[in-house]
Amino acid sequence: MTKNIERTLSIIKPDAIKANYSGKIIDLIESKGFFILAQKRITLSAIEAEVFYNIHRDKSFFSDLVSFMTSAPISVQVLEKENAVNSYRLLMGATDSNLAEEGTIRKLYGSNIQNNAVHGSDSPENAEVEIKFFFSGLELLSKT
Ligand code: CMP
Repeated sequence: MTKNIERTLSIIKPDAIKANYSGKIIDLIESKGFFILAQKRITLSAIEAEVFYNIHRDKSFFSDLVSFMTSAPISVQVLEKENAVNSYRLLMGATDSNLAEEGTIRKLYGSNIQNNAVHGSDSPENAEVEIKFFFSGLELLSKT
């Protein structure tokens, strides 16, 4: 059977960057067999955070989420693996770090439902949109 090699977008969020957890998180991601195709550290503007999280615009937590995501740099990665989208969601754990399963990134390195250390795309379709939001075609050229 042919493997379903997928790409997903990962964000290491400001809480984890400020706590100096990015190396540990990347180590865990690689140890689970994800290949990091592209990666960079950036600081989002409010407009950029609002556009990225546009789907949550009407939620009560939207303005807090934008403030949080712009409060410090983030690190964004394109991860490649068989069934990368679902596989990374399992590795991240539940959205609320207090409810996340043992051994997951959000349990290990997050604090609560907002400051939850990482983001991952929720579908292959959204992964494509989210990857294009952060990376150009040139940055995505496979170098292996
Ligand atoms: P993420 O997976 O990046 O998707 C949307 C983000 O909004 C989520 O992680 C959390 O950081 C945040 N979020 C989701 N639900 C809530 C909530 N109920 N209250 C506060 N923040 C939330």
